[in-house]
Formats: sequence, structure tokens, C-alpha cells
Amino acid sequence: MIAERKDAHVRFATEQHRRRGGHNQFDDVSFVHHALAGIDRSDVSTVTRFGGMEWQVPLYINAMTGGSPKTGEINRDLAIAARETGVAVATGSISPYFADASVADTFSVMREENPGGFILANINANATVEKARRAVDLLQADALQIHLNVIQETVMPEGDRSFASWGPRIEEIAAAVDVPLIVKEVGFGLSRETLLRLQEMGVRVADVSGSGGTDFARIENDRRDRPDYSYLNGWGQSTPACLLDAHGVGLPVLASGGVRHPLDVARALALGASAVGASGLFLKTVLDGGAPALISLLSSWIDQLTALMTALGAPTPADLARCDVLVQGDLRAFCADRGIE
Ligand code: FNR
Repeated sequence: MIAERKDAHVRFATEQHRRRGGHNQFDDVSFVHHALAGIDRSDVSTVTRFGGMEWQVPLYINAMTGGSPKTGEINRDLAIAARETGVAVATGSISPYFADASVADTFSVMREENPGGFILANINANATVEKARRAVDLLQADALQIHLNVIQETVMPEGDRSFASWGPRIEEIAAAVDVPLIVKEVGFGLSRETLLRLQEMGVRVADVSGSGGTDFARIENDRRDRPDYSYLNGWGQSTPACLLDAHGVGLPVLASGGVRHPLDVARALALGASAVGASGLFLKTVLDGGAPALISLLSSWIDQLTALMTALGAPTPADLARCDVLVQGDLRAFCADRGIE
């Protein structure tokens, strides 16, 4: 049952990314062009530091899958691509392993293929401290992700209907685990108010994972016999909206959701993200061309991001946040409604 669900998520997410294209709210963000801002490429470093972590590049392959033979093979390819490019990589939710320990290797394959890499283990917000520790142990994980997915659960026929325990559970895990904890959405975004609550709970890094890319309301509607909740497709705040909403909160934020190319990476860093991730696009890449295709894509993203930082005069990812950007269109209206200057 869980294995079938994991395979269906991969299938519907990939279909979405084949159909998808064109505009999202990242297009409402543009850099002001300063013709004399450029620096030397040799002066650019892509290293990013946040929440006690240091990554060689400000990119990561965000949480997706595991729990079935097919998704175990996908995890193998993701881990190989991460190893070859030095990019951090997350597992999908480890809940299938808690239900059936025989699927352990569909997750632990990521550590076998990427022994020296930065791996994030992923659990849901219902998980106990004991499960959080088992997830970290299974992967010898360098960090732990907890996902918040209330809209996905709501549309999922077999989904959770009780969410009040999430806050206390997160607080317990934040106090108990000895690797960095990152709380993330799954494509609906984290509001300023949510970030402030997470901060109160002792969470030190959040991944806003906003809308504009993979839409889990649509995926769960596609899995239903009748798409009763189709009006929820497109729910949530976009990733650039979340990054602007996060200004001044003081919590390091990661950006994922709808990231399409290196310019979106630079835009997200300019809006204050410490690192930038993608899921659906990388999944499609791996399914089409295996690990070599993702290695090639990630290598060219790193190369192009370095080129953009050179042209924009930003020696580090954090310096991109000092670049002048213009915010237009619907994103500007969002800022006005939320009182963001
Ligand atoms: C996901 N995502 C996800 N997130 C999570 O925290 N745990 C999970 O198990 C999964 N599972 C999952 C499966 C598939 C097939 C996809 C494509 C995605 C959500 C993911 O980490 C990310 O937050 C969103 O997909 C938004 O990013 P993109 O896809 O727009 O780049």
C-alpha cells in the first residue's frame, strides 16, 4: 500500500513536470543591471554556511522518495549524482521503513553510494523522538528534515486528519536530536507566522518550499477516484513570496519549490535564502537519463551560478542578498498586502 503510493507520487509528479513550463512567481523578481558590478570568477566562492552547517555549493536535491524497489533505484541515482557534484541530498519520508523494516535498503542505499556526502533524513511531523533517532541512524544522516504537509494529508484519502500534535512533537525533536534540524513544507510555503512559531519551538533552520513547482494537492487529486478537492490545486504561497515574508524573522531559510534554472537559484539567494533546492525537476532528469543526466545538470547549474555571481559582483552566495532586485507583478501585490517593504 505505502509502496504503491510512493510509486504513484513519482509517476504523477513526473507527469506534472513534463506538462509544466513557463511562468511562475520567480519571474516577478529581476536583478537591476549594473554594467560595472562584475568581479573576477576566481574571486567567487560558492560555499554557504547556515545553522551550523557548511556546504560547498548552495544547492540540494530535496526530499522525494524511498519505500519500494523502483524508488530505491531512484534514490541510488540521486545519491550518485550528489556524490559526483558535492551537492547535499535528502531522502524521502522514512515512514515506509517505520511500517516495514524490510524496505530499509531503499533508503540506506543513499549512504552506501555517497559515503562522504551530506545527507538529510526526512520524517513527518507525527514522528516521535525515537523514530527521529532511528531515521538519523539508518542514514548516518548529517541533518534531519521534518515535513509539514497538512494540505497534502487533507486531499490524500488515507491521509492524517489530526494535526494539533505536530507543534509539540517538533519541539521535542528539536530538543532531543543531535544533528541540525530543518523543518520544511512540501510545496505550499511557510508563512512568516509559521517561521516565528518554529523559532519559538527551537527550530534553527526552515525550508519554505513554496508553490510554483510540484503541486501535491494536484498529485493527491490525481490519485483519488474523484478529484473532489481539485479547488485546492495551486494552494499556498510561492517560494519568492515566502522568502520576502521571512525577512527580519532572523531564522536562516532555505528555498525550494518551483526552482527551474540557475537564475531562479540566484534570485532565491538574493531574496535571502542560504541554499536552494529542487525535487520534481531533478526527479524527471533522473528518470529520463539516469544519474549521468543529473550529474550533467547539476554541474552546469554550479558553473552557471558561479558565472552569474561573477557578473553580479557577488563573491559569496550571501553577497547576492546585497544585490539590487526589482519585485513586480503579483509578488509586489503580495508584499503590499503583507506590509513587506
Ligand atoms: C516530494 N516532496 C517530499 N517532501 C518531503 O519532505 N518528504 C517526502 O517524502 C516528499 N516526497 C516527494 C515525492 C515526490 C515525487 C516529489 C516530487 C516531491 C516535496 C519536495 O521535497 C519539495 O518540497 C516539493 O516538491 C517542491 O519542490 P519542487 O518539486 O517544486 O522543486
